[in-house]
Amino acid sequence: MLHKKIAELLNQQVNKELYSAYLYLDFANYYADEGLDGFAHWYEVQAQEERDHAFMIRRYLLNSGEKVEFLPIDKPDKVFKDHMGPLEAGYAHEQYVTGLITDIYHEAFGQKDYKTMQFLDWFIKEQGEEETNADDMVKKMKLFGGDAKGLYALNQELAGRVYAPSATGPAM
Ligand code: FEO
Repeated sequence: MLHKKIAELLNQQVNKELYSAYLYLDFANYYADEGLDGFAHWYEVQAQEERDHAFMIRRYLLNSGEKVEFLPIDKPDKVFKDHMGPLEAGYAHEQYVTGLITDIYHEAFGQKDYKTMQFLDWFIKEQGEEETNADDMVKKMKLFGGDAKGLYALNQELAGRVYAPSATGPAM
């Protein structure tokens, strides 16, 4: 069993990760509608990764003898005025998620819950990577997305992203 507050935060995090998947699929919908299939593909892969994160945390809760309660998933409600919009929103969202993971880590530290801290180590690293990726997308769009040729090349590059389920997940 976990400390009540930690179990509660992890249960909420399952919901946040599922929301992240939903949000990124919504970005993919936007880009698909705009004819940018490479951008759409990139966010479809990202949504799969977010779903994996939710599964990992769910599994950790179950392995720890906790019940998992699914909460309603919010409707993604962002409206974008240009192709940069989802990229900036994605970066801001990853920074927000890093904050959530950090808060759980902080709680686990306070409770001397070293097992949960070890579990969360993987997510701390993952968030670092996800923030870097999201920031790179914004930077590349600023540099190359301003004209049709650049946007086409960027779309081609993003189409090449491969979904690779994490071989080494968090410590359970
Ligand atoms: Fe699961 Fe992008 O954080």
